[in-house]
Amino acid sequence: MLPSVLPTEADHVPVLADEVLAALHPRPGDTVVDCTFGSGGHSRLLLSCLQGQGKLIAIDRDPTVKPYFERLRRERGTRMRLLNGEFSAVLSQLAANGVRADAILLDLGVSSMQIDRPERGFSYAADAPLDMRMDPSAELSARVVVNEEPERELADIFRRYGEERYARPIARAIVRRRASEPFERTGDLVATIKEAIPAPARFGEGHPAKRVFQALRIEVNDELGVLERALPAALEMLNPEGRLAVIAFHSLEDRIVKRFLRTSEHGCTCPPEFPRCVCGATPLLRALPRRAIRPSAAEVARNPRSASARLRVAVKIG
Ligand SMILES: C[S@@+](CC[C@H](N)C(=O)[O-])C[C@H]1O[C@@H](n2cnc3c(N)ncnc32)[C@H](O)[C@@H]1O
Repeated sequence: MLPSVLPTEADHVPVLADEVLAALHPRPGDTVVDCTFGSGGHSRLLLSCLQGQGKLIAIDRDPTVKPYFERLRRERGTRMRLLNGEFSAVLSQLAANGVRADAILLDLGVSSMQIDRPERGFSYAADAPLDMRMDPSAELSARVVVNEEPERELADIFRRYGEERYARPIARAIVRRRASEPFERTGDLVATIKEAIPAPARFGEGHPAKRVFQALRIEVNDELGVLERALPAALEMLNPEGRLAVIAFHSLEDRIVKRFLRTSEHGCTCPPEFPRCVCGATPLLRALPRRAIRPSAAEVARNPRSASARLRVAVKIG
């Protein structure tokens, strides 16, 4: 059964859509891998380029995307497969099985569909169970992290993944409160964060719980670890001249993508003081362009969630 809230084409606009199409420009007959299917916004556009010829492999760790995939398959009729799983594991498996692709897209993070469903616990704006798992069958949830991590670890998570200035007082307040009553709901966590930070900071830039929620989401879903593992697997899967496009939404992710592209573009891993190369590694890809592509002012006005998006593109060297 389709959920009653399936977005229509008109209300789900994929981020940097024109830029992704221009970067990947799949041709009829190509194999395209959308590692982050979501509600299929980018897949729909990529399929239009295939004109009924070629293949789309869609991946998502959230099984609730299935109705969106089924709807798209009914509409398009192109060869399409949905693989439910974590993209770094799925890409490694596909690469090991000899599957090759001409275009691979990663549109990182959570979807509007996940944020807008309060029961998933991603949003600080609604009181809901403390969850934040993209894959609802995963063992680690935000409830486990908040109730079980030692104070020092919690502070480290908030600082590292959320760049939260008040990481230590927030971690201390969480540990104090959970000693009498474990956290079950996002609302309790938001209240504890607000109490832990100085009054002026409660009314500063953005919601006071925004950075802690981002940090917990990254920790629960190991978002940086899976990205580190996915990029080499994606590169291995690409055919010569195949293209990789990655959309990141915060600097921690973008830094990983940028570093990977730089290293693969450079090839040689010898220390700079070596007079000549002894490692023999050759460049594996070309970054196109060298700088990240940002959404236009018009796109940000239309879709404020796109504001922090950065697209990086590379072509595998043949
Ligand atoms: C930003 S949304 C993608 C939206 C999609 N491009 C669209 O146009 O509808 C990210 C999606 O990727 C999934 N996702 C994020 N990280 C993942 C991972 N490591 N493995 C598999 N799926 C992942 C999320 O569950 C979510 O559905």
